Amino acid sequence: MSEPAIPEVTWTRKDLLGIADLSSEEIELILDTAEAFQAIAQRPIKKVPTLRGKTVLNLFFEPSTRTRSSFELAEKRLSADALNFSGSGSALSKGESLLDTARNLEAMAPDLVIIRHQHPGVPHLLADRLDSGVINAGDGAHEHPTQALLDAFTIRQHKKRLAGLKVTIVGDIEHSRVVRSNIHLLVKMGARVTVAGPRTMMPVAIEKLGVQVSYDFDEALTDADVVMMLRVQLERHGRSLFPSTREYFQVFGLTQARLARAKADAIVMHPGPMNRGVEIASAVADGETSVILEQVANGVAVRMAVLYLLSLAQQGKS
Ligand code: CP
Repeated sequence: MSEPAIPEVTWTRKDLLGIADLSSEEIELILDTAEAFQAIAQRPIKKVPTLRGKTVLNLFFEPSTRTRSSFELAEKRLSADALNFSGSGSALSKGESLLDTARNLEAMAPDLVIIRHQHPGVPHLLADRLDSGVINAGDGAHEHPTQALLDAFTIRQHKKRLAGLKVTIVGDIEHSRVVRSNIHLLVKMGARVTVAGPRTMMPVAIEKLGVQVSYDFDEALTDADVVMMLRVQLERHGRSLFPSTREYFQVFGLTQARLARAKADAIVMHPGPMNRGVEIASAVADGETSVILEQVANGVAVRMAVLYLLSLAQQGKS
């Protein structure tokens, strides 16, 4: 096994808690590093010894398919030792606090902790108290930084740039951690972001984050380079925010006919999981312009890059 041709880099940030904290230079560095790691996925043997002897804890208190499995795959490909922990079946059900749980797990000396939690700010709480590097894998409706990074990586692959692109993000803006991280990233990198969705799912004053707001899907789609659809997050709605899924699809569902308003070479993205027939038609989700499965594949390389860079900060402390 040989090391990938990764750039000589300096990285001192202990944790990755959100895109809001990152500079455009740090974002660029993560994306460039991910490109180096992506080459590994093309090899017959997809494994390097970069994190041999390092231990990574995967703490998932909310369901996940893509994020959890791609972090686990990234850890395996970097030769790290991974310990998987989920809330159900743990001593949390006997009343142990999250912090005590984390301290006990830290006593096993992990180098990095990945956490997904339903409450915003839990990764920040752990990062304040633990010596290990902490990576936010999604905290409530707050941030999902590695999703935004893999989205940017995918856009860059197709469009060769982020600056100047029109990116239209559509759907349940209010409850989406993906949109918050994407807005922070895309605005920092010079893209023009439009968010569209029903008024009942639009956060107050979101334009203060530097985006255009539209309640007209067709208008928002016009001349878009990238169309990012978001899942309607029924589990986070305290009450009904639209009359029916049928009506939602009629007004905010992405169909081939609607997509014709975007640029001819526009790409269609979705972080998953998708509600087919609610926010996106199957013909679009599985169509030629869809890069949805590329996003999933790119998630492994981006998470390898993040794990590698944060491990450099851990080495710096020893
Ligand atoms: N995009 C995303 O976070 O998917 P999972 O919930 O499956 O991890």
